[in-house]
Amino acid sequence: MKNRTSFKNLAVASMLLALTAIILQACVNEAKSEESKALALMQNKCYSCHHPTSPENSRLAPPLFAVKKHYTKKYASKEAFVTAIKSFLNQPTEDKALMKGAIEKFGLMAAMNFPDEEIDLIATYMYEQDLPKPEWFDEHHKQKHGKGKKHGKGKHKKQAEGQSESPLAKGKEMALKTKAALGKNLMQAINEKGSAGAVEFCSLKALPITDSLAKMQNANIKRVSDQNRNPLNQANEAELAYIQEAKAKISQGKKNKPQIKQVDGKWVGYYPIMTNTMCLQCHGKPGEEINQATLAKLQEEYPNDQATGYDVNELRGIWVVEFEE
Ligand code: HEC
Ligand code: HEC
Repeated sequence: MKNRTSFKNLAVASMLLALTAIILQACVNEAKSEESKALALMQNKCYSCHHPTSPENSRLAPPLFAVKKHYTKKYASKEAFVTAIKSFLNQPTEDKALMKGAIEKFGLMAAMNFPDEEIDLIATYMYEQDLPKPEWFDEHHKQKHGKGKKHGKGKHKKQAEGQSESPLAKGKEMALKTKAALGKNLMQAINEKGSAGAVEFCSLKALPITDSLAKMQNANIKRVSDQNRNPLNQANEAELAYIQEAKAKISQGKKNKPQIKQVDGKWVGYYPIMTNTMCLQCHGKPGEEINQATLAKLQEEYPNDQATGYDVNELRGIWVVEFEE
């Protein structure tokens, strides 16, 4: 009798052990699959703006590596970190934001209705895993935070202080400033009105914003293209020649460089404008990336639109910056 009980106990115990092992293994598997699910979510939902390897001057948002750095500094525990990210994503406001320099540069992040459980997964992943660090990050960080410079302005300030800035760099600075202003306003318009609504914003505001930035900087600035949307943005002969050359270089996998030359005593600089994911909702393939409402709006405003069919990392056009010596 006693023996049988202990045998039974043993059997129960070993069954329990086996069960525990199965459950533990399942937990490990679950944790692994949660991790890869979180990574996939992050890549699909966040990287279009927060991509870790986009170059610094064509980004739509800071890399998540930098976001994590700010958040772990203020919110040390996992729980506080996840809660803070969740609160920001549920309703981004300037008050909650920790990255004021990023708001200045890119505009406040759009509210995008991510489901809570997805944000949980992504935020937990961000906290627990090493995120990829962009190559330019350390350099940027040194410039931004080094020598007591004001946050967010370091790089521009450094260049502005340097006396012998080259005309090429000076023109680039003007183009980037204009691009930042346009990008920020465009992001806001998309946030508020969706891509179809933002088309109207672009058609009303793109040229005036560009012009006012040009005036502020005492220069002429325009965006032109070989496949222009607005007839006013058609590239002239010299500009077309540069665009063709740049496209050829890109197709050979070479780097396309900006160019500056003197024309009638003025500097004229050309700076490439490349596409990223965000652009495709208005410049991608009709019916695929461009939805029907947006397409209808585009056709209404621009009956001769040539600026569709683009993919990412293609030359959409160039900045042309003209200024006195
Ligand atoms: C359409 C572009 C876009 C997408 C998509 C996007 N973000 Fe952002 N995000 C931004 C911009 C722009 C900023 C910088 C301005 C700011 O801080 O609000 C930002 C900032 C942030 C910040 C820091 C806010 C602060 O200042 O404290 C967090 C956290 C963040 N994003 C998380 C995410 C996560 C997680 C995802 C994916 C689920 C995501 N974002 C998707 C544009 C985007
Ligand atoms: C919400 C829709 C929308 C998005 C998103 C958008 N664009 Fe455009 N884009 C337009 C419209 C509309 C025009 C015409 C503006 C005008 O009338 O001056 C335009 C014009 C341009 C031009 C000037 C040359 C031309 O074709 O007339 C360039 C260059 C350009 N876009 C590049 C970009 C890039 C690069 C992105 C992504 C970073 C982008 N656009 C995102 C709608 C958009």
